Amino acid sequence: MSVPDPRAADRATPPRKRLYIRTWGCQMNVYDSARMADVLAPLGYAPAEAPDGADMVVLNTCHIREKASEKLFSELGRLRPLKQAKEREGGRMILAVAGCVAQAEGAEIAARAPHVDLVLGPQTYHRLPELVARASRAAGAVIDTDFPADQKFDHLPEAAAPQGVTAFLTIQEGCDKFCSFCVVPYTRGAEYSRPAAAVLEEARRLVAQGAREVTLLGQNVNAWHGEGPDGRVWGLGRLIRELAGLDGLARIRYTTSHPRDMDDDLIAAHGEVPALMPFLHLPVQSGSDRMLAAMNRGHGAAEYLRIVDRLRAARPDLALSSDFIAGHPGETEADHVATLDLIRQVGFALAFSFKYSARPGTPASGAPFQVAERDRDRRLQEIQALLREQQAAFNRSRTGMQCDILFTGPGRHPGQVAGRSPWLQPVFAEGPTTLVGQVHRCTVTAAHPNSLAVQVDGSAIGPPDRNPEQEKAAA
Ligand code: SAH
Ligand code: SF4
Ligand code: F3S
Repeated sequence: MSVPDPRAADRATPPRKRLYIRTWGCQMNVYDSARMADVLAPLGYAPAEAPDGADMVVLNTCHIREKASEKLFSELGRLRPLKQAKEREGGRMILAVAGCVAQAEGAEIAARAPHVDLVLGPQTYHRLPELVARASRAAGAVIDTDFPADQKFDHLPEAAAPQGVTAFLTIQEGCDKFCSFCVVPYTRGAEYSRPAAAVLEEARRLVAQGAREVTLLGQNVNAWHGEGPDGRVWGLGRLIRELAGLDGLARIRYTTSHPRDMDDDLIAAHGEVPALMPFLHLPVQSGSDRMLAAMNRGHGAAEYLRIVDRLRAARPDLALSSDFIAGHPGETEADHVATLDLIRQVGFALAFSFKYSARPGTPASGAPFQVAERDRDRRLQEIQALLREQQAAFNRSRTGMQCDILFTGPGRHPGQVAGRSPWLQPVFAEGPTTLVGQVHRCTVTAAHPNSLAVQVDGSAIGPPDRNPEQEKAAA
């Protein structure tokens, strides 16, 4: 037993405060939530599993569809009694609303929910220490919804809590594409690319903390055009080649991409960089040229199919994923059928589909010929049925196949480990948790609608090449 250090009490460690963060929306919000916790850690805030009794609660919100936004107000209602209980005990719960709803509806949130202390947009959370101090003194809500994405990354702390075997790394923010239906250009601001050196440095840190797979994030990640260490502007293909050289990094992914930014070098990288996983999320939204034009996507269906062909020529085992919107204003039955045709032509391994949701301030929300709710529902169901079939078929096609699995954590049952296939499928195997963090050659023994069962065939591929547990067992 260790002897307590009598000087410990004198050390100037701030008192531990409990921080609860709830996250909705895309992976970029997941990354932002982790970074907010990093920014608050030096102030003594440590993560809490539940909001009860917390000293600070951050709701990191999503504005993409109507339902996503509504979740904020119902959560705020649930938090009100918890905040009051904390006050009755003589404490204070600082309630902050962050993310894309905060950016779009900051003033409305403060008016509708007076118990909110702080409203901050996605580009200002590096200022949290100052905002928290101001909120502690102020009576009403403190609102900060500026757009300095470049400043944010410069001011985030280097110290970050480890993310684990798989990690997210935001390299690009914002969007200049202005699709007719989408709020992102308004909530996240203009496109901004982090410099390559900053990205490489963060990737090195993630690997040093145990990450074996890094997913590069951006609202338009393949629009990334960052300054290279050589002073020239690099594209994403170049960045990926550089990342692939990092010792210990086994896998690279990136999301979300726009077909318009799929350049030659990036397509070539899929064929040339083994660490770049054979799975790509490339949203097309619709299979109808008329709708793609109305959506302001900047390409037609044939162009999308050509890009898919070129990607598959570069990397024959590439699996594709996409997003679809059912019932965008002006969509006819013929347009919908064109979407189903495109889905059949491509064959997706995974896809997300949404019923069109009118978002305030976007061009489509005021367009004539809104599609009836009934038709939007039915079209969504037809799209989803087809996509489900394709996903099941893709998973089935892996049965009996040998592939490399990255083990990421314990499985749901004792004696099981969970992992990921190269195609992002969740995987589980019988095996010790000492496999976590390693890549192993495995055989797929069974396919389920949303996961694969595998059997471990070989020893670890790549670092860490020594597993003390296995060596002990073998001796
Ligand atoms: N940048 C990505 C998508 C970001 S939003 C791209 O360009 O593809 C994620 C997905 O939400 C979109 O691909 C789209 O399918 C869906 N989406 C966005 N706005 C929507 C709306 N108003 N109604 C329904 N779905 C929407
Ligand atoms: Fe939204 Fe279109 Fe930008 Fe994607 S490309 S974030 S759908 S505006
Ligand atoms: Fe939602 Fe904002 Fe992401 S609107 S999808 S959290 S960029």
